[in-house]
Amino acid sequence: MALILGIESSCDETAAALVESDRTIRAHRLAGQEAAHRPFGGVVPEIAARAHVEMLAPLVEAALADAGVMLAEVDAIAATAGPGLIGGVMVGLVTGKALAHAAGKPLIAVNHLEGHALSPRLADPGLAFPYLLLLVSGGHCQLLLVEGPGRYRRLATTIDDAAGEAFDKTAKLLGLGFPGGPAVEQAALGGDPRAVPLPRPLVGSGEPHFSFAGLKSAVLRARDTGAYSPADIAASFQQAAVDCLVDRTRLALARSPGVTALVVAGGVAANQAVRAALEALAARHGLPFSAPPLWLCTDNAAMIAWAGAERFAAGLFDDLDVPARPRWPLDPTAEKARGAGVKA
Ligand code: KG4
Ligand code: ZN
Repeated sequence: MALILGIESSCDETAAALVESDRTIRAHRLAGQEAAHRPFGGVVPEIAARAHVEMLAPLVEAALADAGVMLAEVDAIAATAGPGLIGGVMVGLVTGKALAHAAGKPLIAVNHLEGHALSPRLADPGLAFPYLLLLVSGGHCQLLLVEGPGRYRRLATTIDDAAGEAFDKTAKLLGLGFPGGPAVEQAALGGDPRAVPLPRPLVGSGEPHFSFAGLKSAVLRARDTGAYSPADIAASFQQAAVDCLVDRTRLALARSPGVTALVVAGGVAANQAVRAALEALAARHGLPFSAPPLWLCTDNAAMIAWAGAERFAAGLFDDLDVPARPRWPLDPTAEKARGAGVKA
């Protein structure tokens, strides 16, 4: 049995958690920064990095106190080393390195995407490799074959915006506030998903990848007609996004024989319409469906500690000079998607 301290600071959540290799979450602490970023309508990297500096040490102390353990009783320290906003990643990784060095414990540099990718196994002990994962967050929208810690095959990615980015931009266009995903989901509850005709980019094509930029532009045009309520636009956008996610996932499932389950993770996996549609898709394919509880979908440190526990068990450790990486693909062999631009 191993006890892992996890640290997360790659975007706008500062978090620390203690997780055991038997999946017991001994402590998890999270400090969001929404209030600091809200006036700007999005995450400001410099503000985020400064907030991580202020919040992280007290959060680690609080998590250790919650679990009733000393740093000396921890078996390894897992810190997010990328991808993400580099200032924040450096704060968390340097803190992890300092703790590892001071306590004489091994360091595990965790890819934030691996944190999301393995998070369903923290909540679902029955979930075995290999599984097909739809990873949908603010910065990424990928279909991955998850074969084990450090072993991923990327089947699809977005050629423009990430799914969460599309939710966030839609919220901004409709004046629904920040963070956008939950605001769009809330507004959509009062709207008609068939009210606004919106495109489903790439749906029905043999092309494996995602595209959301055209959908966002269509939302802007629909808003500017003045003919639709924000609730109807939100509901119609959410339905279009769900249709895109389901269609691309269906294609990937057809191309992934032998998977044990269909799994969704990342911030957008907190969306009930997304979860329900994917669960129905899995059922049509006779596959189990797995999604982490809502709090484990959005950024947190329990998923980083858990990825650390999985890597610990596999003997995957890192040196103290491991770099912080703003970009870090889970599958470095994946070819660039056709039409992919500057976005990661
Ligand atoms: O995984 P995450 O917390 O951070 C990244 O690694 O990006 O994902 C954040 C993204 C944001 O774009 C946010 O708007 C979206 O997840 N999100 C949602 C919901 N909750 C968070 N999108 C749709 N519906 C939600 N309920
Ligand atoms: Zn994330």
